[in-house]
Amino acid sequence: MFTATSPSGGKPEQYAQLARQAHALLAGERDRVANAANLAALVYHALPDLNWVGFYFFDGHELVVGPFQGLPACVRIPLDKGVCGAAARSRQTQRVEDVHAFPGHIACDAASRSELVVPLVRHGELIGVFDLDSPEPARFDVEDQRGLEAVARIYTEALP
Ligand code: SME
Repeated sequence: MFTATSPSGGKPEQYAQLARQAHALLAGERDRVANAANLAALVYHALPDLNWVGFYFFDGHELVVGPFQGLPACVRIPLDKGVCGAAARSRQTQRVEDVHAFPGHIACDAASRSELVVPLVRHGELIGVFDLDSPEPARFDVEDQRGLEAVARIYTEALP
């Protein structure tokens, strides 16, 4: 059985270990909901100081919430709204140290202080976003960004 053991070592080594776990978890499975559900659970339990980890899928019009861990979240996010909308629109990772200073931030969980949103793009097509929230200000640094972008890539590469 797969277990999400807490990684040890420095941050790059921790993320390398998380990537190996993500690969193992998705091996042989291409279902986008199943893989998103398992990745959200893996990351939520492997990393400290997170209050929400999950997926929003692009339905051709707006973002719709997918599998996640954390409190119930806003169901639909237009592309011109929020940190998630900005990541989807720009197709650039949004690393926000203080969500209160981000114009248009959508507060699904009032505890959130910082946020990282990675766009999910497959063969040039927007699939959705991978969203992480933290109750700690400036929880995510560049190493977290690189590590979580790698996890997001493992997800998109497993899509059909
Ligand atoms: N804060 C996000 C909304 C999604 S929740 O964090 C789960 C945003 O501003 O897009």
